[in-house]
Amino acid sequence: MKKSRREAEAPDKQQSVAALVASHVVCSLSGRRDIERRELFDEQRRARDSSAKRKVIRAGRRGGKTTFASSVSIDAFLDGLRILYATPTADQLQTYWYEVTTALGDMIHEGVYRKNEANHSIERPGTRERIRAKTAWNADTLRGDYADLLILDEWQMMDERAWDRVGAPMLADNDGDAIFIYTPPSLASRSASKARDAQHAAKMFAEAAHDQTGRWAAFTWPSKANPHISDEALRGLVHDMTSQAYRQEIMAEDVVDVPGALWNQATIDSNRVTKHPPLVRVGVGVDPPGGATECGIVAAGVGPWRVNGKQDQHAFVIMDKSLRGSPHAWASEVVSCYHLVKADRIFGEKNFGGDMVESAVRTVDATVSYQDVYASRGKAVRAEPVAALYEQGRVHHVGLFPELEAEMTSWLAGESAWSPNRVDALVWILTMLMLSPGSKAVMSVPQVLPGTSYWTGLR
Ligand SMILES: Nc1ncnc2c1ncn2[C@@H]1O[C@H](COP(=O)(O)OP(=O)(O)OP(=O)(O)O)[C@@H](O)[C@H]1O
Ligand SMILES: [Mg+2]
Repeated sequence: MKKSRREAEAPDKQQSVAALVASHVVCSLSGRRDIERRELFDEQRRARDSSAKRKVIRAGRRGGKTTFASSVSIDAFLDGLRILYATPTADQLQTYWYEVTTALGDMIHEGVYRKNEANHSIERPGTRERIRAKTAWNADTLRGDYADLLILDEWQMMDERAWDRVGAPMLADNDGDAIFIYTPPSLASRSASKARDAQHAAKMFAEAAHDQTGRWAAFTWPSKANPHISDEALRGLVHDMTSQAYRQEIMAEDVVDVPGALWNQATIDSNRVTKHPPLVRVGVGVDPPGGATECGIVAAGVGPWRVNGKQDQHAFVIMDKSLRGSPHAWASEVVSCYHLVKADRIFGEKNFGGDMVESAVRTVDATVSYQDVYASRGKAVRAEPVAALYEQGRVHHVGLFPELEAEMTSWLAGESAWSPNRVDALVWILTMLMLSPGSKAVMSVPQVLPGTSYWTGLR
């Protein structure tokens, strides 16, 4: 076997030389020079060998998705096809580009293929054979090409209209093939997404999996299926992930809704806004930690909002500063959040440890406006009217709150062994803003909490 180009060019790829050599095969292609190739692992191979015209691949982070894309691109290119690889991010593009240019490196060097670094294309002069890689995230950025094989990597982050409007038409002339590649997006990874429906890739996967015609096929594997990623690298990746994010990004599961959870993601998403109106009252809800758990710290405000021509008071969740730490650490965060959002009052739950929240907060800043709230009823009973407000479209998240929303959509009253501290803080603040008798936005079924005085608002 000849000396690997990778060996010479990418010593930083964190693979031993032996593993590197073992992961490659050299294919001798009729009439062409040797092409150095990755040897695909089973899951990748199964997807490659399928004869479906549309393949939807759902795999975990570092699961070998982009390597797969480059490998099938090289196969198709050597078969005389035109390939367009599109992905929303520059780093994916670079991974792909590195793979294809390395594999075809000798032939490029010898002038058999022509490489254009500026527009990331490799072509065989005098033919229509070409590989082109571009960053694209919607119909407009995908436009302007035609292909026999279109690969959309990180498809979950793209505006799904790119496929109907540009992708499918571009393949129509030659009845080309398409490969959609995605990792189920956790809430944390969704902020950079251009998807209109965060579940669009999951929906396409489900349809492909149920396809009876043979035209569509679905393939899935977790990160761990990739034998070339070390346990250590995987541990680094899952560090700090919520259990929901782990299921999505590592196990490659499309976690849509947890049956029985008080909130569902679609409701939260449909009410989400990027800006809030001037807020007439703002408060910070605090759920003190019981033992080593997090201290829930959530800020929200009330302001006028117009829906279908009717103006009403709506709630806007503006900050989640929950954290794990010493009383001084979380009390400092509460106080800084209070000042940051120019809150009128802090509401702290008094159930645990007497006046722990008030004394901790006052130690940091004695001047804050503070009110205790008491939990005389179970969490679920307190949370239900707040969940109802969401269903009525009266609570808006200003931006994304991944950890809070993960708790909201996965906590099961009476079943979950863990305590939803962020949810508790959220429930307190929304109850005080929207459901307590003193709030202007009293619901038809107000929840009166014993021990809470009327909140007259501004200091
Ligand atoms: N068949 C293979 N042979 C050798 N190495 C592989 C193979 N497939 C993947 N790898 C290696 O595994 C690592 C992850 O691969 P890749 O970047 O393709 O995964 P990914 O699923 O696209 O990751 P991400 O989620 O970060 O986009 C890389 O170091 C890559 O070189
Ligand atoms: Mg990738």
